Amino acid sequence: MKIGNVEIKGFTALAPMAGVADTAFRLICRECGAAYVVGEMASAKGLMMSDRKTAELLTVTPAERPMAVQLFGDDPGIIAAAVKKAASFGPDIIDINMGCPVPKVAGNGGGSALMKNPSLAGHIIEAAVKATVLPVTVKLRKGWDASSVNAVEIAKIAQECGAAAVTIHGRTRDQMYAPPADLTIIAAVKAAVKIPVIGNGDVRTPEEARHMLEATGCDLVMIGRGALGAPWVFAQTEQFLREGFYDPAPELPARMEMMVRHITLLCALRGEEHGMREARKHAAWYFRGTEGAASLRADAGRLETLEDLRRLAQRAQKLSAGR
Ligand SMILES: Cc1cc2nc3c(=O)[nH]c(=O)nc-3n(C[C@H](O)[C@H](O)[C@H](O)COP(=O)(O)O)c2cc1C
Repeated sequence: MKIGNVEIKGFTALAPMAGVADTAFRLICRECGAAYVVGEMASAKGLMMSDRKTAELLTVTPAERPMAVQLFGDDPGIIAAAVKKAASFGPDIIDINMGCPVPKVAGNGGGSALMKNPSLAGHIIEAAVKATVLPVTVKLRKGWDASSVNAVEIAKIAQECGAAAVTIHGRTRDQMYAPPADLTIIAAVKAAVKIPVIGNGDVRTPEEARHMLEATGCDLVMIGRGALGAPWVFAQTEQFLREGFYDPAPELPARMEMMVRHITLLCALRGEEHGMREARKHAAWYFRGTEGAASLRADAGRLETLEDLRRLAQRAQKLSAGR
């Protein structure tokens, strides 16, 4: 499929996840077969105030491409200026966040709050599209709450305003991340627009990805939490969708090797002290389902150095071997 002129060679995308889907994780997911990745959301206002941390969120490394960077904001003028600046980081696509539920974003009128204001949402998309030659995409929720389900309306507005694709997370803002994602709203959006539709919500296995594709007709499946500590889900899903079967998840030694490589990359990019703080949650996810997981996860929360991590990986393998 294509988003604008950008070819996406596969069926799976890594979801944007603030504080989680950073450069290191995106590179690992691309290596594992994710056909497309989206960077962590960055504030349009923060970018225009030359906030260094915001700019870091927009870093694009060549091996990640095709990649989108994501902006949030509630002011068309600031979005337009931020899109121009974001484009200078070299992404393939610019995504506008209209799904984030957290008060810091939605409380200021951005993210999912834009679902409540279709006219402003349209102005923002139009401003973003006019500001760049890159494809602009929009990530939506089902609506703000059960009484205002309007993803179809917003997706049509996005198309009219020049968006090249929409992603739809099948939950309302007030459902946050809890009840099962609603595939019928993804199907309704797909039926209502001509631009590509990326389906999102609760896909953790190749079978769930296939079910989403079949039940909704969406063009690409976006996986977020299902990839945490399990980036091989992309390889498995791509294989399943192409060949009808898939290889089992790697055995523990290979999983530990992946974890160490991922976190070594994270430390190379962020420095060991900062990188290891970020790494604790990732390490805990990689231990999910292993023998002694509770104690390994507790120790993951105290990791300080890469050497600690290697020791913990060895302990996990010993625990598993002694089972
Ligand atoms: C920790 C975390 C951070 C997230 N950050 C973002 C973000 O920056 N931008 C965004 O559009 N969605 C964000 N999301 C939402 C995900 O992209 C995705 O829509 C949601 O997790 C549902 O997909 P899943 O069930 O596959 O996880 C975040 C989700 C999580 C769990």
